[in-house]
Amino acid sequence: MGNYLIEIAHLVLRYFHVIAGIAWIGASFYFAWLDNSLQTPPKEKQDKGIKGDLWAIHGGGFYEVAKYTNGPEKMPTTLHWFKWEAYTSWITGILLFSLLYYVGADANLLDSAKSDLSKFAAITTSLASIAIGYIVYRLLCNSPLVKNGYLFTATIIALLALWTWGFDQLFADKAVYIHIGALIGTCMSGNVFQVIMPGQRYLVKEVEAGRIPDPAVGLKAKLCSIHNNYATLPIIFIMLSNHFSHTYTHQYGWVVLVALIVIGMWIRHYFNLKHRHINKPSILVSGIAAFFAVMLAIAPWESFETKVNTVQVSDQQAWTIIEQHCTECHSATPTSPLFTSAPLGFTIDSIEAAQTHSDNIYTRAVINQDMPLGNMNNMTPEERKTLAIWIENYRVAKGK
Ligand code: HEC
Repeated sequence: MGNYLIEIAHLVLRYFHVIAGIAWIGASFYFAWLDNSLQTPPKEKQDKGIKGDLWAIHGGGFYEVAKYTNGPEKMPTTLHWFKWEAYTSWITGILLFSLLYYVGADANLLDSAKSDLSKFAAITTSLASIAIGYIVYRLLCNSPLVKNGYLFTATIIALLALWTWGFDQLFADKAVYIHIGALIGTCMSGNVFQVIMPGQRYLVKEVEAGRIPDPAVGLKAKLCSIHNNYATLPIIFIMLSNHFSHTYTHQYGWVVLVALIVIGMWIRHYFNLKHRHINKPSILVSGIAAFFAVMLAIAPWESFETKVNTVQVSDQQAWTIIEQHCTECHSATPTSPLFTSAPLGFTIDSIEAAQTHSDNIYTRAVINQDMPLGNMNNMTPEERKTLAIWIENYRVAKGK
């Protein structure tokens, strides 16, 4: 019952997290596009203090949007704010993260091959490093460095690389990327909570009082908004990365992540320029080329070769290994206390099923070696080798 309740909590949190994240990133894309697409308005609008306007058509109607230099003469009765998308994304994200990586620390966070941190020490380190990462980012945003876009970006990337490397030293491969996701997500919602919202409240107060607001406050909020916008593509990749174990299980998985973050920001840059009618296809093309270069660099070439072994492994030997290390989870009736049904519906209940899914098994248990989950039942290198030979021989026999 207990693990079924956890399963439901997992579903509810993940569902809400995705919904809130879509709303937040959707709003970020929309407002970045809006801001970059504003044009100089006609004279009569300029006289009203409007600095940019834009026309759009959507859902069967025309929209006229105007951005004021300072603010409207009179506060509108209804003013729409955008903050709950960010807050709910963060709250559901942190809860989901805690459920999977803290409550489920044995399976998802700890890796005895990397460090012998106790569960408590690992969780404390994880929380502290995210908090410290956020504080460092906040301090950098308040430092003069923020005025130099290139230097600031380079510093942020160097720090992210340091944190990614550090997480990779301590935690299971599976937990590394999501830690960076949690850190970036915390910086993004922190931007909303600590800079953007206070800045906007100040703006409203000044406009209501009939004063001209200090433009520096608005600019600071705008800058945080831009940071958030550049973080969108990397964070979306990180949120999906659990499906792509060839990235995070690679020997240099942390370098792969840093490269993909830089590429994501670079591609975002292309779109941000394009909205301002600066078309630089070279950015998009080089970004996509770099992405495929990374994929090529981490390709598991070894697994593509046909291997002819002189050694034979019987079905019975292979089955003993699978039964000992896989079917406690990957069965129609799992016995592992962690699962009430097979993860991803993936079952290996017979030797025939193991043959059918042999490519998938080879990838996860031989190449990426991220199965068994967290190597919780201590599969040995010899057992992996035996399983590998059994699959390689099966492929040769099948002419695959
Ligand atoms: C303690 C539970 C557990 C054990 C034991 C385990 N796995 Fe998994 N396995 C999981 C979970 C959870 C997932 C889904 C998450 C993921 O893909 O990382 C998974 C996913 C997989 C997938 C991907 C399935 C798909 O449809 O994409 C394969 C393949 C796999 N495991 C193979 C194995 C093999 C082979 C073994 C034994 C050597 C094994 N697993 C042992 C928990 C386990």
